Amino acid sequence: MGRLGLLLGPLPLLLVQICVPASRGLRCLRCERSGSCLEEECASDQELCRTTVLHLWEGEDKLEVVERSCAHPEKTNRTMSYRMGMQIITLSETVCGSNLCNRPNSVWTSSFPRSRYLECASCSSSDLSCERAREQSLQCRNPKEQCLEVVTHRSLEGSLRDEQHIRGCGYLPGCPGPTGFHNNQTFHFLRCCNTTKCNRGPVVELQHLPLNDFRCYSCEGNSTHGCSLEENSLINCRGPMNQCLEATGSDGYIVRGCATPSWCQGLHVAEAFSLTHVNVTCCTGNSCNHPVRDAQPCKGGAHQAAPAHLSFTFTLLIMVRLWGGTVLWI
Ligand SMILES: *[C@@H]1O[C@H](CO)[C@@H](O)[C@H](O)[C@H]1NC(C)=O
Ligand SMILES: *[C@@H]1O[C@H](CO)[C@@H](O)[C@H](O)[C@H]1NC(C)=O
Ligand SMILES: *[C@@H]1O[C@H](CO)[C@@H](O)[C@H](O)[C@H]1NC(C)=O
Ligand SMILES: *[C@@H]1O[C@H](CO)[C@@H](O)[C@H](O)[C@H]1NC(C)=O
Ligand SMILES: *[C@@H]1O[C@H](CO)[C@@H](O)[C@H](O)[C@H]1NC(C)=O
Repeated sequence: MGRLGLLLGPLPLLLVQICVPASRGLRCLRCERSGSCLEEECASDQELCRTTVLHLWEGEDKLEVVERSCAHPEKTNRTMSYRMGMQIITLSETVCGSNLCNRPNSVWTSSFPRSRYLECASCSSSDLSCERAREQSLQCRNPKEQCLEVVTHRSLEGSLRDEQHIRGCGYLPGCPGPTGFHNNQTFHFLRCCNTTKCNRGPVVELQHLPLNDFRCYSCEGNSTHGCSLEENSLINCRGPMNQCLEATGSDGYIVRGCATPSWCQGLHVAEAFSLTHVNVTCCTGNSCNHPVRDAQPCKGGAHQAAPAHLSFTFTLLIMVRLWGGTVLWI
């Protein structure tokens, strides 16, 4: 388009404007985990470029993995760090809104930040330190970070275990929360606090959260497999999850369960269940997300600008699984 624009330069403005819609999309650098990069033109609903960096520190040794691409406008800057055995894992995502603004810049300092701010408890399920109450302490290196606790629990087929609990430092827009979702198969939860080691104590387990007198339908799947009428079951909602949620992805994937109001904005659902163009409706009242009754839309779908509370965590947990796992266990 650049060359065409140049050729059209001397022509009347009208012609140039006709040309504009095709080139209006933001351009971002896209870098894969392998390190190879190319420029990409973003889809019309992607208004930001992102840079996502995973660091594994062990003493003075450091592993860095960087991913860059277009991003949805709900994305915001965020960071999170926690201890796993002898390592400290640091995840950060920054977004920007101009062409190719996610190019690597030499200003990036790759030494371990020396400043110390809040002190938090830290543990992770990958070394069972959360489950065994073997928390260590972690100094936050960013003045904006709070102490946080993240739960991402999906009961998968067979004995596959997912990363379930993480405690550490973080700067996430969902803070202080609590914010989350649960149904028969899945539990997602985030809460943050800002005093010394305020995130210690027993880890959050769904069955220990108090019942809140709401009941919602629960299912995950499509209308014939997983979410058929007979596969929907009523569950008791717990803790702050007092909305009945129903989400439908473009491929017909359906999720039902109990949620905090923040989950009704769609983005968490999209990220947690890898759905594209997800429609989310929420309702308050017992069993109101009944499979055959139309739920009342409460906060609109994923396209409404919503703070990306947990999405970062999910993205990065996946990154840790992909690369952290390779590095740590091979
Ligand atoms: C996000 O981080 C980038 C890089 O540090 C910074 O330039 C930008 O101003 C930040 N944006 C917000 C909204 O804080
Ligand atoms: C969901 O959980 C409820 C209560 O624990 C149980 O009765 C029901 O069978 C479960 N449904 C499915 C589909 O697993
Ligand atoms: C700490 O958290 C409380 C409650 O969320 C909030 O009112 C307070 O402003 C926070 N303080 C700082 C320094 O962030
Ligand atoms: C529902 O999911 C099952 C299993 O993934 C699949 O075999 C089936 O074709 C799907 N049905 C529809 C209507 O998409
Ligand atoms: C979401 O809702 C809109 C408007 O009701 C509809 O046009 C669209 O097909 C829905 N998308 C999905 C994935 O259900």
